[in-house]
Amino acid sequence: MSENGVATNGEAEFETEDEALQVLLDADIDKVMAGLDRIVEAAPSYEKLFMRWQRQHWSTEDFDFTTDIEQWNDPELMSPEEKKFMLFGFSQFFLGEERVTVELLPFAIAAPTHEAKAFLTTQISDEAKHMVFFDRFYREVLGMKAADIGAQLEAQRVNVNKDWETLFDGILHDCAERLRLDPTDFPALVRGVTVYMIVIEGTLALTGARFIVKAMKQREWLPGFTAGFTAVNRDESRHVGFGVKFLADAIKDDPANAQIVQDTLKECLPIAPLVFAPEWVDDPYSFQTPFYHSSEVFEYAMKSLSKKLAAMGLDPAMLAGDPA
Ligand SMILES: [Fe+2]
Ligand SMILES: [Fe+2]
Repeated sequence: MSENGVATNGEAEFETEDEALQVLLDADIDKVMAGLDRIVEAAPSYEKLFMRWQRQHWSTEDFDFTTDIEQWNDPELMSPEEKKFMLFGFSQFFLGEERVTVELLPFAIAAPTHEAKAFLTTQISDEAKHMVFFDRFYREVLGMKAADIGAQLEAQRVNVNKDWETLFDGILHDCAERLRLDPTDFPALVRGVTVYMIVIEGTLALTGARFIVKAMKQREWLPGFTAGFTAVNRDESRHVGFGVKFLADAIKDDPANAQIVQDTLKECLPIAPLVFAPEWVDDPYSFQTPFYHSSEVFEYAMKSLSKKLAAMGLDPAMLAGDPA
């Protein structure tokens, strides 16, 4: 950890914007993800995360979708099964970005310091940008021309599964509501950050993104989308970095917060992995997709979660047993 400007491990490797971008554009997605993990594990301060946000701006208009449009409309290239599965994955992200944009507002109000508030306002703008990026992709590449973002989201609602609804409309919304009603409720903020930054972003989104980007790169599919989605995930690693830092500090200040994290994980973990399963599979715990088998995704997600827990000073073994 570094508060004094002397960077440690992951921090040192990304001192300049060019270096960070180079890592992101690396052909090997696992190298990219390892680089992002190192940023999170270095637990940068809120100020450093804010500075990084200032240096890492990008625009939803930066990406050229010409090849993406040709490929999406080429039946020789993509089968209906492949497109159906991709639409499921893309929609879970698109609708998820809208939910996390809106639900983050009470978190920013409840954040205990101005440094944390300042960072969370950057994250709100990031999440809005991610939603707008997906909206552009749906319009220009997938050819879905709804009247506005609201109508676009409504039209894609059929593609998300019930477990996505339980997690986003149920648990995440409840976290945000509790903070909205009482911004001084610190235990509610600990629960909310665990759900939002550790489960949704750190475990599900970064895992789903890794498998999507890997599949697209292997096939050289949707290069405009892949470049934009990579920029999205660089933002996500900053967001997860905030969550790890916030929870590590909360646990140091009061060990009772570790129990809140553990209880929240117990609440989410029966549902969270099912977010990866399309409604049409027979067994949501074991299924084949056109791109990978579910077991690879579940294994990767659990490893991701374990790394985040270790980075916040908790024993990942807590996921296996019930020491309480
Ligand atoms: Fe996002
Ligand atoms: Fe995010």
